[in-house]
Amino acid sequence: MARKDHNHNRTSTVEREKISAQPRLHQKAPVIQEYGTVSHMLPLELEEPVRLEMTEQLNLLLADSITLRDLYKKSHWQVAGPTFYQLHLLFDKHFGDQVEIVDAIAERIQLLGGIAIAMAADVAETTRIERPPRGREEVPVQISRLLDAHQIVIGHCRELAKRSDDLGDDGTNDLVVSDVLRTNELQSWFLTQHLVDEPLVEAGRPRLSRAG
Ligand SMILES: [Fe+2]
Repeated sequence: MARKDHNHNRTSTVEREKISAQPRLHQKAPVIQEYGTVSHMLPLELEEPVRLEMTEQLNLLLADSITLRDLYKKSHWQVAGPTFYQLHLLFDKHFGDQVEIVDAIAERIQLLGGIAIAMAADVAETTRIERPPRGREEVPVQISRLLDAHQIVIGHCRELAKRSDDLGDDGTNDLVVSDVLRTNELQSWFLTQHLVDEPLVEAGRPRLSRAG
């Protein structure tokens, strides 16, 4: 009995020495999965080559969507002029929709066994959308930039929709068509209507011809 107690006390002392309230900071280790790879076996009934191709394509779509999302915030902050208030709000609404799209694409890449691109530097190397200047631009230029970005995303969505359908990846097809394509088409429509040159005050007044 006495011996048992002694052993018990010894064990407790050893354990107490091991336990510390100090967080283990600055830990480093190799990555557990390389970018551009997919997990070998998943219960999705989708072959590895299909998941590899789809995750690669979705990462391009993701990089462009992240860039478009950020372009909306830049426009939201930097917009100026008589339409400031409505555009300030509209740009932020579209930003919010793009935030949801970005999350949905990234999580689809992960569930397909791949790795979603995430950080700004990697996005910048990957996106096909032209980098805007750091400075402020006029409203028609802001809107044109956003429309060009939408056009890139929409074009890619159409290719990816067809390819995912051909490969039997219905989930990717649905995401690309129902969420990404439709939202981008709608946002594109909202933007294009701001580039219609309509009179603000007097309707139907003939314009002065430059030649005349
Ligand atoms: Fe804001």
